[in-house]
Amino acid sequence: MRINISFMLNGSEVVVEVEGHHRLIDVLRDQLGLTGTKEGCGKGECGACSVLVDGRAVNACLYPALEAEGRSVTTIEGLRGPNNELSTVQQAFVDQGAIQCGFCTPGMIMSAKALLDSNPDPTEEEIRSALLGNLCRCTGYVQIVEAVRQAAVQLRDKP
Ligand code: FES
Ligand code: FES
Repeated sequence: MRINISFMLNGSEVVVEVEGHHRLIDVLRDQLGLTGTKEGCGKGECGACSVLVDGRAVNACLYPALEAEGRSVTTIEGLRGPNNELSTVQQAFVDQGAIQCGFCTPGMIMSAKALLDSNPDPTEEEIRSALLGNLCRCTGYVQIVEAVRQAAVQLRDKP
């Protein structure tokens, strides 16, 4: 059975028709064309599909689309500024060379954003802990942690 759901996506309301077995990642990528969210393992182990739901990082490959009804969903596409400029966290990943093949990057950035929104001054341990569910097969973890640290400093310094 198909059901209409509505939710806020990157600040705008969307209405989509979904079936009970659809996952949030199916809706984002296949129905709404937001392919920045990646599917790696498809079973909650790699974090490539991380998006924010009501500000909390979730695995979109496990999150039932029906559960998005009435919620606020943010994807990597929602982080850019009004003139398509990169967000502070995205720019920090570029600056620190924290992107290799880039497959894990959207998920890493969404998890980093969730961390920094709730904890503006994280320790290295807290950064590593927040990114535990995000795997990088290119193993660039040192640069990734540095990028989150840079973003934290810059966000704290922002007027
Ligand atoms: S694709 Fe969702 S956790 Fe790997
Ligand atoms: S940059 Fe390639 S998987 Fe992380």
